[in-house]
Amino acid sequence: MTTSPERHSSPAGVRVAVISGSVRKDRLGPTIAGWVAAALDRPIEVDLIDVADVALPDDSLLYPGGGAQSEVADRIAAADAFVFVTPEYNHSYPASLKRLIDWHYGEWRLKPATIVAYGVQGGHAAIEHLRGVLAELSVVTTRRALGLRAPWASLDDQGRYAPDAELSRGLTASLTELRWWAEVLADARRDRPLTI
Ligand SMILES: Cc1cc2nc3c(=O)[nH]c(=O)nc-3n(C[C@H](O)[C@H](O)[C@H](O)COP(=O)(O)O)c2cc1C
Repeated sequence: MTTSPERHSSPAGVRVAVISGSVRKDRLGPTIAGWVAAALDRPIEVDLIDVADVALPDDSLLYPGGGAQSEVADRIAAADAFVFVTPEYNHSYPASLKRLIDWHYGEWRLKPATIVAYGVQGGHAAIEHLRGVLAELSVVTTRRALGLRAPWASLDDQGRYAPDAELSRGLTASLTELRWWAEVLADARRDRPLTI
């Protein structure tokens, strides 16, 4: 396992990992993740992590605190903040995303995250379940989180997600809050290491 690198955050240095959690064939996840990534303006660095592209070891090898270093551990460790893009499956977020979370530990710690969920009714159960899990990993979730109701009904003729302006403003507000936390917590990780 790797731990988060000690690095000083500056406005030019914020790196955000956008993590798309669904792995189904014909999934909508990458479409929503693309909408989120497009809203993250420079100088923010964006790293898109599609869980469908990540080969994790067998869960029989998992132990408390994660497991052997995964192929994306360094990318998660390098991030200052996370956007979790997740569908709602049966009143929660998908098992594929939980596996990615469980296979890492120090990489998540003392960093912020925001959540963009989607589903028939907006994915709010997925948001709340994810908040509790992230708290256990010392991840601070933003007050704002976005629940997209039936986003498949708002695709443009090129298949891109094209919601109304209010949702785009909501995303901007969530990302603004996320960036504030990213800068504050990067400084805090450097200046005031948590010793418990
Ligand atoms: C196994 C499964 C369970 C689902 N359960 C819910 C649910 O509880 N609430 C909801 O709003 N939508 C539910 N849906 C609908 C999904 O939110 C919708 O299909 C969405 O597009 C799935 O995201 P994906 O295409 O990225 O996999 C479910 C879909 C699947 C495949």
